[in-house]
Amino acid sequence: MVAPREAVERAEFLRGEIERHNHAYYDLDAPTIPDAEYDKLFRELQGLEAAHPELLTADSPTLRVGGKALAAFAPVRHVVPMLSIRTETETGPAGAEAFDARVRKALALPESAPPVEYAAELKFDGLAINLRYKNGLLVQAATRGDGETGEDVTQNIRTIQRIPLRLRGSAPAILEVRGEVFMSRPDFERYNERQRKLGKPTLVNPRNGAAGSVRQLDPKVAAERPLSFYAYGLGETEGWSVPATHNGVLDALTNLELPVCEHRIVAYGASELIAFHSAILARRDSLPFDIDGVVYKVNSLALQAELGFVSREPRWAVAHKYPPQEAMTTVEAIEVQVGRTGAITPVARLAPVFVGGVTVTNATLHNEDEVRRKDVRLGDTVIVRRAGDVIPEVVSVLSEQRPIMAPEFVMPRICPVCGSAIERPEDEAIARCTGGLYCPAQRKQALLHFAGRRAMDIEGLGEKLVDQLVDGGLVKTTADLYRLDFERLAALDRMGEKSAKNLLDAIERSKTPTLPRFVFALGIRNVGETTAKDLARHFGSLKALMAAARDEARLQQVPDVGPVVAASIAHFFAEPHNIEVIDGLLEEKVSPGNTPMAPLAADSAIAGKTFVLTGTLPTLSREEAKALIEAKGGKVAGSVSKKTHFVVAGAEAGSKLDKARELGVEILDESKLKELLQA
Ligand code: IVH
Repeated sequence: MVAPREAVERAEFLRGEIERHNHAYYDLDAPTIPDAEYDKLFRELQGLEAAHPELLTADSPTLRVGGKALAAFAPVRHVVPMLSIRTETETGPAGAEAFDARVRKALALPESAPPVEYAAELKFDGLAINLRYKNGLLVQAATRGDGETGEDVTQNIRTIQRIPLRLRGSAPAILEVRGEVFMSRPDFERYNERQRKLGKPTLVNPRNGAAGSVRQLDPKVAAERPLSFYAYGLGETEGWSVPATHNGVLDALTNLELPVCEHRIVAYGASELIAFHSAILARRDSLPFDIDGVVYKVNSLALQAELGFVSREPRWAVAHKYPPQEAMTTVEAIEVQVGRTGAITPVARLAPVFVGGVTVTNATLHNEDEVRRKDVRLGDTVIVRRAGDVIPEVVSVLSEQRPIMAPEFVMPRICPVCGSAIERPEDEAIARCTGGLYCPAQRKQALLHFAGRRAMDIEGLGEKLVDQLVDGGLVKTTADLYRLDFERLAALDRMGEKSAKNLLDAIERSKTPTLPRFVFALGIRNVGETTAKDLARHFGSLKALMAAARDEARLQQVPDVGPVVAASIAHFFAEPHNIEVIDGLLEEKVSPGNTPMAPLAADSAIAGKTFVLTGTLPTLSREEAKALIEAKGGKVAGSVSKKTHFVVAGAEAGSKLDKARELGVEILDESKLKELLQA
C-alpha cells in the first residue's frame, strides 16, 4: 500500500517535531512541551507507521521504545576486533610511569627525546558497544562478546536517547563508533526508587544495571532503564578521513553529535598522566557516574599503528585503576548507635573488607525504614560502598546467599546505652533516645561535636579520651572541660604528662572562639555551620541571640531560618540545663567574639544570596564553586526551595534542576556563575 501524500508529510513533520523536543529535553535540559503533549505526538506517529509500515524510517524516534522481544541475540562478527586494554593495578604514580617507559622503549626513543603525547580520558564502568552507522544511519549495535563475535543488541541500544539514530552533517559510508553504555548514579537511584515504590526488584549497582539492560531480550524492559553512552574510539571506517590523533577523532565524533565525555586532556609524558590521574581521583565522587580508573592512549594514530598489539592488548593504551569503591562482605551483627541528638542509627558490623582505600568494618544503615527497605539481615552477604570521605553504607543485599532463618532487624525499644525509652514520632524517619544529656552516649557525642575542628577546635580530644572522661565521671558538660586539672588528666589511661599538658593548652586556646563557631559548637538541633553563621551575622553577639532566642518570630527573620529551625533554637534556649552550661562556659572565661552584623560583601551581586549546586561543572569542583560563592558572602544550600536565588547546573544535573524549573528559580551555568562572581 502506498501511503497517501498527507500521511507521508505528516509523518515527516511529526518525526521532526519529536526530534526537536528530544534534543531540547535530553541535550539542552530545557523541555519545550509538557510530557502529555509529547506523548500525543509520539502516539500519532506510531499510529501512522502502524497503518503504513512503509513510512517507518530507520531513524524514526518510535524505534526508541523497542520492538518485539527476541528469542536470542544474533551473532555479529566484528570487522575490526574489539580488544581489551591492559590494566595497571598499581594505583600510584608507578602505573603511569611503567606505561610511559614501555611506550618509549617500544618506540626506541632515546632518553633525550621529548615526552610522548598522550590522550587521557576516563575509564567508564559499563559495557563496551560497537555502533555501526551506514551513510549516517545507525544500522547495528553489538556487544563486545569475545572480541571477535558479539551480540546484536540494536533494538536495545536504540532506546538510549543519547545515541543518535542519525549522525549530523555529511556522513561517511561506514563509521563504527565504540564506546561505553552506562547508567548514571542519579538515574540508577531514581530507577531503584521507582521500582521500590512499585514493589519491583531493584538493580544491584549501575554497572549491572547497564549490562543487564543491554542484554535484555525484551526491548521494552531495556527502554525503561535510563542508560547513557560515551564514545571513546573507532571500529571500521569507510569514506571518512580519519583524523591524525585520538583526540582529533573524539572531536570529530562530537561534531557528528555523538556524546563524548568532556573530562579528557592531551598530556605530555608520565608526569602529566599522573597529574590527570590524581585530578580525576579528586573529582571522582562528584562525577554523576562511576569510573574505575582513567585510560591513557598514545595520541598519534600513526604511532598507535607502529606500536601494535601484544596478546590481544594494544601496546598504545593502558587503564590506570583507582581503588574500588564497592566490595562484598558479610554482616556479623546489626547494632544501633546513639547520636548527639539521640538519633538511633542502625549500623551493620561487617567482616573486615578493603574498599575505597581503607579497611571497613562498619557501615551505616541510616534508619529503621532503610533497613526494612534494603532488607538487611544478620548473616547476609552485602555490597558495601565507600566513596571519598562519605561514611560507608550498605548498598544492597545478595538475597540468594541469605542463610536460612536469618532474623529480621527489630528496632530496640530502650536505649542500649542509658535504658531510656526510644521514641519515633509518627511522621519522622528517625527514632530517638529520650534520655537527653542523661544518656552518656549523647553526652559523649555532644562533647565530641563541641571539640570538633569546625567548632571549638580542641585538638587531641578524641573519642577514646571522651569515653574515659565521661565514664570516669570527670566531665559531664562541656563547661567541665575547662575545669579539668592536670593531675587527674595525666593519670588517665594512655595519657601521660606531655599529652595532658598539650590537651590543657588546646583547651585554653579554644577560649576565644568566633561567634559562629561557638553557636555551632552548642549543638542545637538543626543548626549546622551555615545557620550558625547566619544567626551570628543577624544578632551580632551571644547576648543578643539569647535575648531573641525565645521568640520564634524574631528568629524567623534570619535568612533561611524557617519554623522548624526556629523551634529547635527556641527549644534549646528554653531548656534550663542548656542555660546552666552556657553560664558555666562564660564563668570559665570562654568568650565568643562578636560578629559584624552587616553582610560581609554587601555590594557584591552574590552577598546574601542562596545557591544550590547540581551536576558536574566543566572546570570547577563542587568544593571550589562553594568556596568562591561563600567568599563573596553567598551561601550554598543542599536543596532547592522557594528561598533559593540561583541554581548552578552542570552536566547530568538531576532532580534539583527540575525543582528549580518548577519553582522558577534562576538557573546559571558555570560561565554565568563566573560572570556573577566578577560582578
Ligand atoms: S579503549 C583497544 N577507552 O574498558 C582499546 N576502553 O578493556 C579499546 N573502557 O571493555 C578500549 N572506558 O569497555 C577504552 N575510555 C575508554 C574506556 C574503555 C571504559 C572499557 C571498555 C573495555 C575495557 C578495557
